[in-house]
Amino acid sequence: MVRSGFVMVNSISHVSINKRRLLRDLNSVSRIGIGDHGSVTRLVFSIKELRGRQFLIHLMRQAGLQINIDRTSNTFGRLNGGHAKAPAVLVGSHLDTVIHGGKFDGTMGVIGALEAVRTLKEQKVPLASPVEVVCFVGEESSRFGYSTLGSSLVAGEVHGKDLSNATDAQGTKLEDILASLGIHRRNLRSMRRDPSTLKAYMELHIEQGPILEAKEKRIGVVTSIAAPTRFKVIFTGQADHSGTTPMEMRKDALVAASEVIVAVEKICRRYSRMEKGRVVGTVGAMKIEPGVINAIPGQAELSVDIRSITAAAKNRVVRLVHAKIREVARRRRLRVDILPIREEEPVPLDKRLVHLLKECCDARGIAYEVMPSGAGHDAMQMAKITPSGMLFIPSRRGISHSPLEWSEPEDICLGTQLLLDSIIRVANETI
Ligand code: GLV
Ligand code: MN
Ligand code: MN
Repeated sequence: MVRSGFVMVNSISHVSINKRRLLRDLNSVSRIGIGDHGSVTRLVFSIKELRGRQFLIHLMRQAGLQINIDRTSNTFGRLNGGHAKAPAVLVGSHLDTVIHGGKFDGTMGVIGALEAVRTLKEQKVPLASPVEVVCFVGEESSRFGYSTLGSSLVAGEVHGKDLSNATDAQGTKLEDILASLGIHRRNLRSMRRDPSTLKAYMELHIEQGPILEAKEKRIGVVTSIAAPTRFKVIFTGQADHSGTTPMEMRKDALVAASEVIVAVEKICRRYSRMEKGRVVGTVGAMKIEPGVINAIPGQAELSVDIRSITAAAKNRVVRLVHAKIREVARRRRLRVDILPIREEEPVPLDKRLVHLLKECCDARGIAYEVMPSGAGHDAMQMAKITPSGMLFIPSRRGISHSPLEWSEPEDICLGTQLLLDSIIRVANETI
């Protein structure tokens, strides 16, 4: 039977994942970087993140997968199918987290992919294509402001100029870390994976939003991924004595920054409805100089993240926010610098894979929601070099990037089973 370019081999897989093993390994990874209130912190290129990857390598080795680690530390575990030279189905996500994040963001996609692939191997499921589990490094932007680092390198989407302003809170430059790994501006493109070696990319993730719970659906089939524009704003005024400087003689950088924070919220609210582009905007980090109680802030640095599912709406909001920043600086007679970090276009996922994932749900009688993703994912980079598809499971109360992040074990198992079903089809059917 031919469906949207894929030839259907079987409508339902009779291969079942090992739920106990999946939940056990997920739990073990969650303990790496555990902190107060059950929060998890594994920032990219930290010791905790490295330990997460080492544990994954141990699990991949136990499963008998062929391990390959690229220069950025993206970790691949390969199961060769019938034709070892055929393009591979890549399946995975990330193990790095935000600061004080949850147990499931990214981790579920990596451990779910591993569980699916080790089940395929154990049960000797015939596969026409190789299947690779991948853990991308640095999906989260929490350390450097730069998201989907590993997958962007694999997709050939990291540009030298993007790296200039990617610095962590301690002043460490992302560019210096990459250089220590042998990745320089001149050879960024050499990290790109040849698209002819890939058949598709699949990712299982928690929704990180409230839609599935509200609609009482256990699965989301993702159609597109909202894209961010990110930049830093640095207001420079004059640090001065808080007791002796009259109000009308001040050049307070923090008060200017506060106006901008409120303006970001106000402008984004005007474009937040679905039909207006579902724009969201956040000022999530700020640095103040000198940052003491008795001095007027001479410098304030803000990190701004604006996202939408349509490029036009996002670009309009970014223009309005930039105009407001300049107006505030003029009126308050401050210097302002706007430093771009990253500019991305919203990404549609592969329609044939959306269709295939819907069929996988139908085959098991699972009601699903077809929906866009507000959060960023490695799939948004991989979609630029290979057909990409994503499945979501519900997040309790829609909470993520928080220790309160939670997904029900039954939903984790269902999502992983559907991921397995879809891998069997994608590996065996023609695109
Ligand atoms: C990734 O979690 C993001 O910031 O969207
Ligand atoms: Mn995240
Ligand atoms: Mn994630």
